[in-house]
Amino acid sequence: MSSTTMAPPKRPEIKTPLPGPKGQEIIKADAQFVTPSYPRPSFMLVAERAQGVWIEDVDGNIFLDCNAGVAVCSTGHCHPEVVAAIQKQAAEMIHMCGTDYYYRHMPQLAQKLDEIVPVPAPTRTHFANSGTEAVETALKLAMHATGREKFIAFFNSFHGRTLGSLSLTSSRAAQRRGFKRQALDVVHVPYPNEFRNPFNAADCGDGGAGQGALTWIEERLFKTTTPPDEVAGIVVEVVQGEGGYVPAPRNFLEGLRRICDLHGIMLIVDEVQSGMGRTGKMFASDHFDLKPDIVCIAKGIGSGLPLGVCVARADLMDWKPGAHASTFGGNPVCIAAALKTIELLEGGLVRNSAEVGNYLKSELEKLKRKYDCIGDVRGMGLMIGVEFVADRTSNKPAPELRDRVEAACFERGLVILGAGTNTIRWSPPLILTKENVDVGVEIFDRAIAASL
Ligand SMILES: Cc1ncc(COP(=O)(O)O)c(C=O)c1O
Repeated sequence: MSSTTMAPPKRPEIKTPLPGPKGQEIIKADAQFVTPSYPRPSFMLVAERAQGVWIEDVDGNIFLDCNAGVAVCSTGHCHPEVVAAIQKQAAEMIHMCGTDYYYRHMPQLAQKLDEIVPVPAPTRTHFANSGTEAVETALKLAMHATGREKFIAFFNSFHGRTLGSLSLTSSRAAQRRGFKRQALDVVHVPYPNEFRNPFNAADCGDGGAGQGALTWIEERLFKTTTPPDEVAGIVVEVVQGEGGYVPAPRNFLEGLRRICDLHGIMLIVDEVQSGMGRTGKMFASDHFDLKPDIVCIAKGIGSGLPLGVCVARADLMDWKPGAHASTFGGNPVCIAAALKTIELLEGGLVRNSAEVGNYLKSELEKLKRKYDCIGDVRGMGLMIGVEFVADRTSNKPAPELRDRVEAACFERGLVILGAGTNTIRWSPPLILTKENVDVGVEIFDRAIAASL
């Protein structure tokens, strides 16, 4: 593990209590000097180095990574070609500030995005540094393009924590508590979760949830608090990420497109977590042939380097100089990492995400048949959610059990992370192999058995 030339491990290796003695020192220093606002889980991973799908902690313990730094390290940790691209660019030019000067990297990546994003070409791209900034850009752009200021978003969504995107975010009260009223005029609609239809609990899985959400928007919101001609944008995750890895139904997405077309509303799709090959296609929208007006991308685009982009129909992005810009956004080193990442995704990793994702899903479905506490296994590609319940008759959410399983996996050397209240997300690097899946699922199985 300590050298890139060594053969990768085949299994995790846990040698110390977790966290180990060196890890405990770091956690102590962190508790003293670092903000306590990070929503860290109950288990404590203190990473020192990472390669491919393996993480080594400061005490020499080795973990199989099925979270990828929260769905970021799409090409695996420190992919040698990504590292080489970063090193080369860092030696040539680290920063120039694209807000004031020109460099080839910006149009190069923007042109590539024009080719691959689900937004119909021609497009234009705005560069920032994170997911939340990509969302901020989309919000400002929609207001600018429509001259309107209301937005529609969905409960359990996560779009970021800066004040504009926080007005959309609604996956936990802790994200909002203390920050007073919303900065933006956003109204929330229940997300059409097909496993737990919020509109009719007895009618799950046949498009009823999707229709419920559309009716709510058209019959309730538009006719009462939110006239459609005042709505700038509808912001949606095609697969809810932090909310619990919940894919949207097709009829819902098609309905949103229809509603937006009818009323001149911008359809803003947040692909920050679901994009860049994660779902087995380049974008989750591609599974539904969904054509957003604006798309937000971050996380997996730079294999770990900070980059957030907002790509929009070119005719919308006609704002004037000064309207929106960022000093670091579109930094040449981050763009070099992104161009290499896209090359690797197109060169086989999107396909691998689909193939290994199918295999992972079928192995997890076997566990569902074995354990009555698994209520639902869902998702596409390597974006799979496993929802824990008290039992499948009641389907009552089992958040404590989920937390125990998460911690038991960690103790056995598997890094996975919760999403929503009672779901575990599988979001490994897209280089994951079937052999890795066998190891991961075997640990998951043992962790569930030990947690019941
Ligand atoms: C769908 C989605 N949008 C936006 C964000 C915010 O991204 P960032 O943490 O880079 O600001 C996230 C982060 O988890 C996300 O999952």
